[in-house]
Amino acid sequence: MSPQPDPVRRRPAPYPVLVVGSGAREHALVWALAQSPSVSEVWAAPGNPGIATLAAIAEIPVTDVEATAEWADVHGIGLVVVGPEGPLAMGLADLLHARGIPVFGPSRAAAELEWSKAFAKDFMRRHGIPTAPYGVFTEMDAALDFIRDARDPLVIKADGLAAGKGVIICGTAAEAESAVRSVLIERAFQGAGDRVVIEGFLEGEELSVIAVVDGERIAILPPARDYKRLRDGNQGPNTGGMGSFAPVGDLDPNLLARVREMVLEPAVAGLRAEGRLYRGALYAGLMLTSGGPMALEFNCRFGDPETQAILPLLDLDLAELLLSCAEGRLASEHIAAHPAAAVCVVLAAHGYPERPRGGDVIEGIEDAWRSGVLVFHAGTALSAGQLVANGGRVLSVVGTGSDLDEATARAYAAADMIQFNGKQMRRDIAMSLAPQPA
Ligand code: AMP
Ligand code: GLY
Repeated sequence: MSPQPDPVRRRPAPYPVLVVGSGAREHALVWALAQSPSVSEVWAAPGNPGIATLAAIAEIPVTDVEATAEWADVHGIGLVVVGPEGPLAMGLADLLHARGIPVFGPSRAAAELEWSKAFAKDFMRRHGIPTAPYGVFTEMDAALDFIRDARDPLVIKADGLAAGKGVIICGTAAEAESAVRSVLIERAFQGAGDRVVIEGFLEGEELSVIAVVDGERIAILPPARDYKRLRDGNQGPNTGGMGSFAPVGDLDPNLLARVREMVLEPAVAGLRAEGRLYRGALYAGLMLTSGGPMALEFNCRFGDPETQAILPLLDLDLAELLLSCAEGRLASEHIAAHPAAAVCVVLAAHGYPERPRGGDVIEGIEDAWRSGVLVFHAGTALSAGQLVANGGRVLSVVGTGSDLDEATARAYAAADMIQFNGKQMRRDIAMSLAPQPA
C-alpha cells in the first residue's frame, strides 16, 4: 500500500502558533500552548484582553476566514488551532490546507457533523452509531404526523448552527407541535431552521467525551461534564455552559472503551470512508442510558467550558499533540494526564442569557490568580483602562486539586474574590453529579 501523500508542510520546532477565537476556551488553549516547548510564539485572532497577556493579537474577526488564512501564510505560522465551529463551517481549515499550513480543525465537509444536525443523525444511522430514534422534516404536516405517532417526550432541534440554542425539550405532543412551528414557520432560529430534527428523549446522565483525531487515529481526553442550565439544580434557561469538571471519575471502567468502539471510531472511519477529512477535536455529547451510551450530538471542536477544565490536567506538549493530528501522524492513543481534578465555574453577566449587560467593572482577578487558580477571559473588554464585562459569559475560573473536592473548593473561593455588578454563577458545579434536562 502506498503511503498517503502528506499535503502539509513541516516546520521544525519551535514554530509560531495561531489560535482562532476569542472565548475562555481559546484563552485556555493559548495558556497551554504558551507552555509547549515546541512553540516559539503564540498569536490569537482576535483574542480578548486576557489572551492578550499571553499572546500577540491579530485583529481579524473569526468570520473572516480568507483574511485569517492569508495572515497565517504571511506570518509563517506552523500550526493553526481553530476554537469555534463558525470558521470551520465556513471552510477555514480547507483554505489553510490549500496553502499547506497545518491546521487543527476539520474541513468544512467533515464539520457538517456539527453544522447540520440532520446530517449528523443520518450519518449516525449510516454508520451504526447509537442515537435516539428521529425524523427530519421540512414540512409542517409531515412533522405533525411524526409527532402524533411518536411517544412523548420529544426533543425538537433546528438543523443548523444556533449558538447552542436550537434544542427544545418537549414533555407533550402539544409542546412539540408548537416547538416545530416556532422552528419551521416562525423561523425562531432563522436559516438554522430550514429543517427540523425530531427525536426521542433519552434519560440518563450526560457525558462529554472529546477525542483528538488525525484523520484516522484517535486519542481520548479526560472525560468531562458540563452544566448547561443557568441556575443551581439544573433550573432556568439553557446557556452556553455555566461550568464543567474533569475527569468524570465515577464511570464504569469499560465505558470509555465502549464510547471509543461504538461512537468515536465508527464516526472517524465513516468520515474517512465518505472522503471528509477530519483532523481536529471530535466532541461526542453522550447520554449514558440504561441501554448504554448514546450520542446526542457531535461537535467539530473542543467543548466550552469543558476545555477549560481538561487542559490543566494534561501532562504533555499540547502543540505537538495537535500538530501530530494536523499532519496525520498521531503517535499514541494514550494522553498523559496528571492524577488531578479540575473544576471550572463560569461567571456570567447580569441578564445572561437573554440580554447580557455590558460595562460592569470587574475587580479581584489578580487576587484570584494569586490564590492559585486559572482565570480565563471570555466576554471582557478594556474601557478607559478598566476591565469590564462585555458579553454573556464573562470569565471561567478554574480550580485544580488532587481531587474534585479540593478543586471545587479552590474554584469557588477564587470565584468569590472576583466581583462585578450583576455577577451570576452556579453554586453546584461538580457537586450535583447528574445534571438532567428538566
Ligand atoms: P445538543 O445541542 O443536541 O447536545 O442538545 C443540547 C442539550 O439538549 C443536550 O446537552 C441535552 O441536555 C439535551 N438533549 C438533546 N437531545 C436530547 C435527547 N434526545 N434526549 C434528552 N436530552 C437531549
Ligand atoms: N459544552 C458544550 C459545547 O461546547 O457545545
